[in-house]
Amino acid sequence: MSYNLLKGKRGIIFGALDENSIAWKTAVRVHEEGGTFVLTNAPIAMRMGKIRDLAEQTGSEIIPADATSTEDLQNLVDKSMEILGGKIDFVLHSIGMSVNVRKGRHYTDLNYDWMTKGWDVSAVSFHKVMQTLYKSDAMSEWGSIVALTYMAAQRTFPDYNDMADNKSYLESIARSFGYFFGKDKKVRVNTISQSPTPTTAGQGVKGFDGFISYAEKMSPLGNATALDCANYTVTLFSDLTKRVTMQNLYNDGGFSNTGVSQEVIERFTEE
Ligand SMILES: NC(=O)c1ccc[n+]([C@@H]2O[C@H](COP(=O)([O-])OP(=O)(O)OC[C@H]3O[C@@H](n4cnc5c(N)ncnc54)[C@H](O)[C@@H]3O)[C@@H](O)[C@H]2O)c1
Repeated sequence: MSYNLLKGKRGIIFGALDENSIAWKTAVRVHEEGGTFVLTNAPIAMRMGKIRDLAEQTGSEIIPADATSTEDLQNLVDKSMEILGGKIDFVLHSIGMSVNVRKGRHYTDLNYDWMTKGWDVSAVSFHKVMQTLYKSDAMSEWGSIVALTYMAAQRTFPDYNDMADNKSYLESIARSFGYFFGKDKKVRVNTISQSPTPTTAGQGVKGFDGFISYAEKMSPLGNATALDCANYTVTLFSDLTKRVTMQNLYNDGGFSNTGVSQEVIERFTEE
């Protein structure tokens, strides 16, 4: 299904690593809705090569950028405007990484250099992206910026480790920058809080399999898929959501407002 919701709109999509990535599915859906965009990822992700297939499929160019480098980001923004032929209407920040999670360091025994690195990649990079766009006056009026987050920012999920703190920070940046982007440039900034999703980043979290099936049983509509997230993001990039800003929006099948489900009760009830 395609509604031409993004016809004539230009954007930048961060974080498509492989076909499971939420950003990959979003790029495909944005393309179907008539949007044009530049794809970007960290130089190391480029070497893995898959992003080229996506670029071909969507008629996009790729500009490598480490989202923690303001130089790379400036180059990305300047070149994207050149390639796309004007200001940017939409940006997806779909980036997350914790060195402590990767290396299996427990939350009560964090390595602080790794913590700082993960915070920079997963949270501060969102500020860096927006500051670069803001200072370059690169966003069109009524443009839309979206970052992806997880409910561990509000409630404790022990194995999510320092990513929980990174997501809290990310959501706060969306509100703080959303104020100035709204006032000064008429641009909206939101985060989507997504269900657990089987991607490279998702599966890096310890106990992910148990966790995703628990969330599935707890959500009245079931877990939101990567495609569901892509569709939701398309609506936020479209003109149908012009005054939605500074929000953290749950795309989670109802998980965040469910105390307990019948399926979960049954598993704990002796016959
Ligand atoms: N998978 C889940 O369960 C889940 C749930 C909620 C939110 N999210 C969030 O969705 C977003 C996308 O993750 P995903 O699940 O699609 O996994 P993914 O592994 O496919 O995507 C993560 C991306 O971050 C990129 N990245 C890492 N370091 C970078 C850097 N320095 N500069 C630029 N890019 C960098 C990676 O190359 C990769 O493309 C992340 O913010 C993640 O936290 C995921």
